[in-house]
Amino acid sequence: MLRWYDQHGRQLPWRESADPYRIWISEIMLQQTTVAAVVPYFERFLERFPDVRTLAAADVEDVLRLWEGLGYYSRARNLYKAAGEIVRQHNGEFPADKDALQALPGIGPYTAAAIASFAFNLPAGILEANTIRLYSRLIELDIDPRGSKGQKTLWSFADWAVARKRAADFNQAVMDIGSQVCTPTDPPCPKCPLMASCKAYEAGRQNEIPLEKKKTAPTDVVEVSAAVRKGGQLLMRQRQDHERWAGLWDFVRFEIDPADGSRIPMPDSRARRKEAELRTQRGLFDAEELMPRISLPPAIASGIEEQTGLLLQHCVPMKEIRHAVTRYRIRLLCLVCESPSGRIKRGSGYRWCSLSELQNLPLSTTGRQFADLLLESETQKR
Ligand code: ADE
Repeated sequence: MLRWYDQHGRQLPWRESADPYRIWISEIMLQQTTVAAVVPYFERFLERFPDVRTLAAADVEDVLRLWEGLGYYSRARNLYKAAGEIVRQHNGEFPADKDALQALPGIGPYTAAAIASFAFNLPAGILEANTIRLYSRLIELDIDPRGSKGQKTLWSFADWAVARKRAADFNQAVMDIGSQVCTPTDPPCPKCPLMASCKAYEAGRQNEIPLEKKKTAPTDVVEVSAAVRKGGQLLMRQRQDHERWAGLWDFVRFEIDPADGSRIPMPDSRARRKEAELRTQRGLFDAEELMPRISLPPAIASGIEEQTGLLLQHCVPMKEIRHAVTRYRIRLLCLVCESPSGRIKRGSGYRWCSLSELQNLPLSTTGRQFADLLLESETQKR
């Protein structure tokens, strides 16, 4: 395996040094995210926050802003919390110990073992998506590898298997063999340095193992995102700790009854482009010239009022965005609402923000899409 790794191992920016800080950042980013997506984020993050003290001294909103688009934002908040603990409780040094690492926010058994082995060369086995597949095949694991019994078996196998002297290279090697060779379907086994020891290969069961977990059907949800405008300002609030996207800023956003959603005629993007061309020819740049104002369905108007205290009567439907979060398939109806009456409800957390402020606030991916659209129509107007 080590010979294979010396020849075929991937060169990745976080493998260039054994700095535990760099390794930690990369491992947190790589959770639920592909290597290709992580690389540019990793480089930008390291440039801005080159060490743990800089990160701990930063503003959490700046950390979230750099994380924007990577998703699973609790990772960024935990990263920031853990940086504070490392500075205050460990004098700015990463502990070279799996248990002490695991006591830090956002660091689970995998990440603790990854830092312990990659940065400190400690013989701690690792288990993540790629190694789960590889080890399950190697030992022909006949139970769900993600269930508690399967996990116990695989963790002890990983701890037993890890090389005592070159633990860092060994773990990188299993991860690379897992992702490059031991692929989910039709793995090219003859290219695998472990072929001769693989029980699944011997039994011809490499496509059957690991056993699939049952997929739960996605749930369809309709939500509105309302950009409530007054003068040049927009109503925004920071999402709270118990909510999805905690710490990020958002427009007025909530789930609606799909029946109310179907009362709003959303422009499809083709029609929008055509309208935009016409508009340009006629020299009209106002959103309301593009899409006519419609009356807000009462249930949506009262939803906005309940959240913000403001009453609105009309909206301009701007764009429908389809996206997925965990097991939810979301249709997000983006509306612009003007001329609010009333006062912002106390304790609602809403406040007026200018469009330029919006550029520096951390938003979710869909929030940023909507904000960019608003900014674009504003620029065209001028
Ligand atoms: N996925 C998670 N950690 C990784 C690493 N260190 N190298 C490549 N892929 C990974």
